[in-house]
Amino acid sequence: MAQVIIVSNRLPISVKKEDGKLVFFRSVGGLATGLSGYTKDRKNQWIGWPGIANNELTTDEQSSIVEELAKHNCRPVFLSQRQIDDFYNGYSNSVLWQALHALGRQPASSAKRQRWWRAYREVNEKFSQAVLNLAETGVRVWVHDYQLMLVPKILRDGRSDIITGFFLHIPFPEAKTFKRIPEHKKLLDGMLGADLVGFHTPGYVANFLENCEAAGIAMTDNREPMADERVVRVADFPMGIDYEKYATSVKSKEVKAAIRRYQRRYKRLKVIVAIDRLDPTKGLVERLKAYEMFLKRNPRLRGKVVFSMVAAPSRTAIPAYQRLTKQLSSLARRINKKYGTAKWQPVDYMNVSKPFEEVTALFHIADVAFIAPLRDGMNLAAKEFVASKRGKGVLILSETAGAAEELRDALLVDPKKPETLVSALEQALTMRRRELRRRLRHMQQQLAANTVQEWARDFVTTLQRPVPGTRTQLVTRTLQGGSEQHLFEDWQQSKRRLLLLDYDGSLVPLQEDYRTARPSAALMRLLETLCASKSTDVVLISGRPASDLQKWFSKLPINLVAEHGASIKMADRKTWRIIERPDTRWKRILQPVLEKYTDAKQGTRIEVKAHTLVWHYRSASPYYAHKNAVIIKRVLKPLLKQYGVQLMQGNKVLEIKNPHVSKGEVARTWLKRDYDFILGVGDDVTDEDLFTALPPSAYSIKVGRGRTMARYRLPSPKEATRLLRKLR
Ligand code: G6P
Repeated sequence: MAQVIIVSNRLPISVKKEDGKLVFFRSVGGLATGLSGYTKDRKNQWIGWPGIANNELTTDEQSSIVEELAKHNCRPVFLSQRQIDDFYNGYSNSVLWQALHALGRQPASSAKRQRWWRAYREVNEKFSQAVLNLAETGVRVWVHDYQLMLVPKILRDGRSDIITGFFLHIPFPEAKTFKRIPEHKKLLDGMLGADLVGFHTPGYVANFLENCEAAGIAMTDNREPMADERVVRVADFPMGIDYEKYATSVKSKEVKAAIRRYQRRYKRLKVIVAIDRLDPTKGLVERLKAYEMFLKRNPRLRGKVVFSMVAAPSRTAIPAYQRLTKQLSSLARRINKKYGTAKWQPVDYMNVSKPFEEVTALFHIADVAFIAPLRDGMNLAAKEFVASKRGKGVLILSETAGAAEELRDALLVDPKKPETLVSALEQALTMRRRELRRRLRHMQQQLAANTVQEWARDFVTTLQRPVPGTRTQLVTRTLQGGSEQHLFEDWQQSKRRLLLLDYDGSLVPLQEDYRTARPSAALMRLLETLCASKSTDVVLISGRPASDLQKWFSKLPINLVAEHGASIKMADRKTWRIIERPDTRWKRILQPVLEKYTDAKQGTRIEVKAHTLVWHYRSASPYYAHKNAVIIKRVLKPLLKQYGVQLMQGNKVLEIKNPHVSKGEVARTWLKRDYDFILGVGDDVTDEDLFTALPPSAYSIKVGRGRTMARYRLPSPKEATRLLRKLR
């Protein structure tokens, strides 16, 4: 495996000074766990900030930090106090954090902001330099999060052999929000320096693509952004947790002890728990207020519940975080004063950071997790709660958290509507045991299958795959002038010729409604002329069902291939030969799944063919189509594996088919014969199989835009038929 370098603002190991001595401590974050498989290998490195200002360190101390971290394959990037103020507290956490969470506040003066932006660029340069110093040829670099959005582009400008992935751990907003950041174009360009850009949810992917379009970035026909002649892959990779670690935590002595402590502390009380970083995005004030309203509305439950709220201090140098710290403790005090009694404290507010054992113990004993951030990239705490439970426990979760797209069995709330929070608390505390167990079981099954280890593997494997659309493939020459002349000469001198022609998008333009793409009289005449020559074999090789091809072309002496090769009718025969037996079982299972995401009013429809299922979205809005296409791909993934079928992304279609049937396979049967002129024409992903099956001497032509393995390109079906007309 190629070398992998991980870059994130914080290293998995941080340093602090206690009584003048350096103290190293591990972060408990999921990222470090997910990536541990890569960081163990000595050639791989993790680059990041060790969490301390270099003004506090002597040169000797810096060297011993470098030495200690090297034992864990970590390389520190040291930041000065000024850089921490302007890059970290300033641009990253007071501009980007707010804007990407659509919080709407852009507080600083313009001079200050410009200083922050300069520091952001400077620190992104510094991180990139650290990567360039370490990178071997062909390295894969994985850059994390909003603090380092410019790094992918700086790396690309520095070295073209580096393959970079970028993952954003927080939300990506709609264009109207993102555009409010004056530097938004530079940030987009920075991210597009990567070969692969990942987000937690399909919604963020859709927002990112919308932003690319709004910024005038060129897009391929498959709606992939292009940057300096490269196609940038954009996809969602929902991050999971170390499921086993939480699910089995109760076996450890420390956790058992913590459980007993909390059980004593909350004896005979129903426990509502919330564990978050103290952050304005988390909706902590809203949650306390909702709990207050809940107590007001449910006098009978007073003295019977407790809200155990842990808010871990975070970014404490930023005024907004300082104000929030004060506000939360005074609000908790107010509620306790108003409703508390000598024997009962309604809110147990803890402004501390708790270690893993305490977190999982608290989740374990809690009846309800009350997780209602205003907006959250994913929210792993929700997943950790679910994994920590044995048998019972209700999750209340904001629909605006990324995790809500997966955890549909949570009680979903709108954090902007206090009423939904209050009634969710009521519902959670009165939910039937059976219902509660069922919901929990569903969520646990889901999380156990999508762990953080899987997430990391998925991202790195995608990054390892050859990058489609590399320069050689994108600069496929247009067939014109000299190359066209060559083709005609070869045609004239040849004795046995083979034409492999795709239909939709190659001979006729793609239609909004695929059912209306009938051949014109002119096209029929052209095919007739081509077929008339005894020395030319014409094969129409299409994804269409046999019925369509039969209806339109059976009168011509032409070879017909339906459904990418599943059935064939030879020019001299009347009947179709079925190469692949239709297996209706997988279709019966998969069709209802597709139907869930299909709505004729929104412009999507399903086409059921004998051997394939197709989800068409040509007439749907790009946002709707993309969002659903991404969800369909994710939902179908396990089923495709189970039934051994393949999902192909075509031009505004998703097609499910037997992986052994392809245009390439069927072309090979013709290629066994002896031809001295071969021409293949196609426009879509399925035609790429055909192009790659052809020998180097063949002429292969891609019709339209997009990456291709074809030798030549023509802009449209009109040009393709014009060329065929000249073959006499
Ligand atoms: C969020 C961000 C991370 C960040 C973490 C802690 O989860 O997405 O990039 O590391 O918060 O924030 P801090 O400012 O303490 O590094």
